[in-house]
Amino acid sequence: YPKLFIYDLDGVITDTAEFHFLAWQKLAEELGISFDRQFNEQLKGINRMDSLDRILELDPSLPAFSFEEKEKLATRKNEYYLELIESVNPSHILPGIETLLKANKDSNVKIALGSASKNAPAILDKLGLTGYFDYLVDASKVEKGKPDPETFTTAADALEIAYPDCIGIEDSAAGVEAINKANMFSVGVGDAAHLSHAHYLVEDTSALIFENIIEQYQKASL
Ligand code: BG6
Ligand code: MG
Ligand code: MG
Repeated sequence: YPKLFIYDLDGVITDTAEFHFLAWQKLAEELGISFDRQFNEQLKGINRMDSLDRILELDPSLPAFSFEEKEKLATRKNEYYLELIESVNPSHILPGIETLLKANKDSNVKIALGSASKNAPAILDKLGLTGYFDYLVDASKVEKGKPDPETFTTAADALEIAYPDCIGIEDSAAGVEAINKANMFSVGVGDAAHLSHAHYLVEDTSALIFENIIEQYQKASL
C-alpha cells in the first residue's frame, strides 16, 4: 500500500495553469514574441526563470538580456499572474480533487504538495485546502526544478517515506518525468500526446478516483 501522495498544484488541484499561460502570453506579446498552446505544454511545471528563458529562446533576433532585465520581466509576468489569481476561491478547486483528498486522508495515507510555483502556498490557502497537507514543497524548497526529481524526493524525505511508496499526480510532461526519475508511481492528468510516459493516465481530474489509483499502483508494483 502506498504511504504518500504528492500533488502538483497548477493544472491538477486548480486551473491556474491557464492563468500562467495567459500571463506569459501577455508578456511575450509585449516583447513581440508569439506562442501557442502547443508550445505552452513545454512550459507547464517549469519554474519562473526557466520558463522565461524558454520563451526568449523562441526569438533569436532579440538582444541578449542581462540577469537584472530578466528578473524585471519575470516580475512583470508574476504581476499579471497575481491579478489573475486574485479572485481564486474554493469554487476553483477542480472536479474530483476534494473527494480524492478526503479519501486520501481517510485512508491514513500522507499528503504533500509538489509545486514549482512560489505562489503555491498562497493559492492553496485561497482554495481552503491547506489543512489536508502534511508537507508543502514549493519553488523555495528546491534547487533544481522539474523535470529534476528534487521536488518529489524533497517531500518524501521530509516525511521519511521511501520513494517507491509514493504516488505523484501531475498534468505536465516535465512533472511526470520528475516523478518517474524519483522512482515513484506517476499519475498523469491530461492528453496522451504529452503524458504517454505516465504509469497511469486519466483524461481529467474527475477521473482521479482514489481506489482506482491504488489498484493501478498495486498492479505496477507486483
Ligand atoms: C508551475 C507551473 O507550477 O509553477 C508553471 O506549472 C509556472 O507554469 C511555475 O511557471 C512557477 O510559478 P511561479 O508562481 O513561481 O511563477
Ligand atoms: Mg501542473
Ligand atoms: Mg506545478
